[in-house]
Amino acid sequence: MKKISSALILAALCYACGSNPSEPKKPISESVNPQIGAAKAKKAFVVDTATGAVTVATPPPPPVKDGKALIAGADCLACHQEKTKLVGPAYAEVAKKYKEKDIPKLAKKIKDGGSGVWGEIPMAPHPALSEEDCEAMVKYILTIK
Ligand code: HEC
Repeated sequence: MKKISSALILAALCYACGSNPSEPKKPISESVNPQIGAAKAKKAFVVDTATGAVTVATPPPPPVKDGKALIAGADCLACHQEKTKLVGPAYAEVAKKYKEKDIPKLAKKIKDGGSGVWGEIPMAPHPALSEEDCEAMVKYILTIK
């Protein structure tokens, strides 16, 4: 009997967490900041099989991406240096030209490649890099002064 009831609770919980994302009664904090809702949605339920107790486990936060290490691990340094123009502009020059709001645009440029901003030489595209990695690289580049 105990087994059945905990199975039922589990089923109900799974149903609840998989339910319609546009539920009407979201706390204000969630509708203001969708990240809170997203973080909550990622919570996993852990069931203690001995007692049937259900606890909520929050996965550890993803590691903060180190843009400098990502750049060192990619081909960027073949064309860019921090202070000196090589094939592409020096990162210090890029940092002077752009602000934080340009991060998504620059991340896309790294992924897609392109030319015309600094000259006619194109930057090679990097389709294998994730958007997240590209953004981490740009964030690092913008700190180079
Ligand atoms: C084949 C040489 C080459 C490689 C490899 C390369 N770049 Fe570039 N990069 C360029 C050139 C050339 C430009 C200037 C493009 C232009 O004028 O629009 C550029 C421009 C940029 C810009 C400024 C974009 C803009 O629109 O102002 C950023 C940021 C950048 N590169 C980051 C990177 C990162 C990060 C990597 C590694 C993942 C990388 N680049 C790899 C050649 C390269």
